[in-house]
Amino acid sequence: MNEFVLNHPLITHKLAILRDVNTGTKEFRELVTEISTILMYEAMRDAKLEETTIETPLEKMDTGMLNEDHYAVVPILRAGMGMVDGILNVIPNAKIGHIGLYRNEETFQPVEYYYKMPEGIANREVLVVDPMLATGGSASATISRLKLDGVKKIKLLCIVAAPQGIKTIEEEHPDVEIFCATVDRELNDNAYILPGLGDAGDRVYGTK
Ligand code: PRP
Ligand code: URA
Repeated sequence: MNEFVLNHPLITHKLAILRDVNTGTKEFRELVTEISTILMYEAMRDAKLEETTIETPLEKMDTGMLNEDHYAVVPILRAGMGMVDGILNVIPNAKIGHIGLYRNEETFQPVEYYYKMPEGIANREVLVVDPMLATGGSASATISRLKLDGVKKIKLLCIVAAPQGIKTIEEEHPDVEIFCATVDRELNDNAYILPGLGDAGDRVYGTK
């Protein structure tokens, strides 16, 4: 099992507000940011630190620091952009790549329309972010595209995952760890997550 689920009563509380159809755009964005920050802390639990010496006001100390330059965040447009501020709260110097995908409404297959990565992407650890993992098609296509560019270490951060999406990633990319805030029940006939939160892109951008 390559998946980690945030199990915490306060996450359930935040998700309840996020899911609620009456929650407005501002609060929705703020909660996506907050939950993304917490997901990022979990995703970085295995981070390698470089040894360094610092000076406190009282004495010298040997400690460890992160090489932030080693990381890239790749939001899946559009909704993934909503998570970027939350990730950058943790690693402000991470480079950002973008991939644009939309789901064909009949086949649910992802269609790529944009791809731009930072220099040296193959040597960075990449955090792919998207609030929704439904069929898993968009995330899997993103990971495959990054692997074509030579990326070796990839983590997937999402807020709401469906069992089908997790299965897709585990089968197609067993090397990729998934960090999510919750795993919901199932997909409906339109491949929307139930109970879910609706269309994440529309809710982040207020487009519907
Ligand atoms: C949503 C979501 C994911 C994708 C998940 O994006 O943000 O990218 O669907 O579905 P999947 O796991 O079945 O691929 P959407 O295609 O609605 O585009 P948008 O972010 O531009 O609204
Ligand atoms: N994309 C969304 O935005 N929401 C879903 O429930 C499924 C895919």
